[in-house]
Amino acid sequence: MQTWMEGYESDVEYTTGYYREQEPNFLSLCAATHGIQTLDLDKPFTYLELGCGYGMTSLVMAANYPHAQFIAVDFNPTHIAQAQSLASEAGLTNITFLEKSFAQLNTEPHSIPDCDFIALHGIFTWVSDENRQHIVDICERHLKAGGIVYNSYNAKPGWSMAEPIQKLLYATSKQFSGSSLERFDQSVKLIQQLQTVKPRFFATNEAVIQKRLEGLVAKDRHYLVHEYLHEGWRAFYFTEIANWLRQAKLEFIGGAVPTDALIRTQLTPATDKLLAQIHDNDTRELYLDIIKNTVFRRDIFSRGVIGRLDQNARVRWFNESQWMLAKPARFDDEAFNFKPALNKDLYRSLIDHLAAGVCSFSTLANGKNRRDTVNALLQLYQANMITPYYANTAHSVMRFNQAMIKRNQPLIALPHSRSSLRLKTFDAQFYINAIKLNTQDATKIAQAVFQELESKQMTITHKGETLSGIAMKNHLANLATKWHSDILPILKQGGAI
Ligand SMILES: C[S@@+](CC[C@H](N)C(=O)[O-])C[C@H]1O[C@@H](n2cnc3c(N)ncnc32)[C@H](O)[C@@H]1O
Repeated sequence: MQTWMEGYESDVEYTTGYYREQEPNFLSLCAATHGIQTLDLDKPFTYLELGCGYGMTSLVMAANYPHAQFIAVDFNPTHIAQAQSLASEAGLTNITFLEKSFAQLNTEPHSIPDCDFIALHGIFTWVSDENRQHIVDICERHLKAGGIVYNSYNAKPGWSMAEPIQKLLYATSKQFSGSSLERFDQSVKLIQQLQTVKPRFFATNEAVIQKRLEGLVAKDRHYLVHEYLHEGWRAFYFTEIANWLRQAKLEFIGGAVPTDALIRTQLTPATDKLLAQIHDNDTRELYLDIIKNTVFRRDIFSRGVIGRLDQNARVRWFNESQWMLAKPARFDDEAFNFKPALNKDLYRSLIDHLAAGVCSFSTLANGKNRRDTVNALLQLYQANMITPYYANTAHSVMRFNQAMIKRNQPLIALPHSRSSLRLKTFDAQFYINAIKLNTQDATKIAQAVFQELESKQMTITHKGETLSGIAMKNHLANLATKWHSDILPILKQGGAI
């Protein structure tokens, strides 16, 4: 391990991911459900991401919020070099990538401005205590009054029983040499061998341990190295996090989960009665984590609050909201197995309305119980089936989206939902050709993709069969028809085309 890694195992690059919990509008809506007003996101704001990896989330956000400034920081030079190159190819001028450690940000405070948002996803558990302190100091120094911090981390008690697996993996990996991937593989083998001697600890916690061990072979190894092999790895009780962040005058607002507030109002009477006896907010949160056996937390903290939303203000927000589908509406009723459960006809009706196009809340709620409609919308949003629609954003993201697809990152920006959509390979090619040919005609688009594949002497593998010639042409025509009916409406409503 090189010294700049500061105990963070980083000789393999991280996987690329998009985390919508970091979106300003997502955080703002979640805060509103907790009764907290955040700043007006149609006006300029400044957003800092700490430990951005390849910067996918910040890149998409910069494309969706051209009036905001984004600063994304990571100490891994490969992550930053690739993110910078993508930003410049996409023509983004409102994002700066800094190849710096958290410690450096504190010794060079002029390298970052004061911020309205500071977000860290997948960081706090995985770094050392020293770096946790650096993060808190950055928040202390650079978060504006009324600003928001988003922080996610592995939580207790959910991790309590599986924590020894991390300890074993990390300690075992130290006795091997080679890359972290090689050391990880060798450590997994030893732990599998440990399993054969039937350790009592494994037997006592069989279900949890078994699930973790299966994950060690099933998941992406790059992700696993970043998940497990860090010296400072720690799962936290909520109260510990609250204590860390209090140093930066940060107060807990609620979960970055649209249904979090709803779940809190739908506890059983016995749970309500129990929690009513706990007077300290942080301790109540601890009780809730024990009740829910929380494994991972996504928290919103704020440094003072801009304003509190009473019931009327929340009603107003929903009355003014508009909604669209976030993905094709091919859901069977099983997909609506939410908790707390509402009538499935309600979810179905909302989805059917939205399948016909963008809808205002008043249209969706017409003839329905208002509170149930709000709750159902939040549940569908949480499940990423629908998303709020922000009509007042009319800039083009096509150059950005083309750059993403060219890099084999078919994660595109949707400015009208201020979110993203991950496209399947051919859907991305159909989209690119729709832009290139300035047409939405599925036949013409399929033909263009077919010609491109033929000119490169490429074939398609479908259900184990290699398709070429007329079979490939017909297959592409079918896929393009499906793209036209399922994906194109979302691209149009989302403002990507
Ligand atoms: C688990 S990854 C999460 C990346 C990204 N936020 C995501 O969720 O996809 C942690 C990232 O933090 C970066 N990192 C770890 N320690 C750091 C430090 N001390 N200073 C700056 N970046 C750091 C790593 O290089 C890595 O990209």
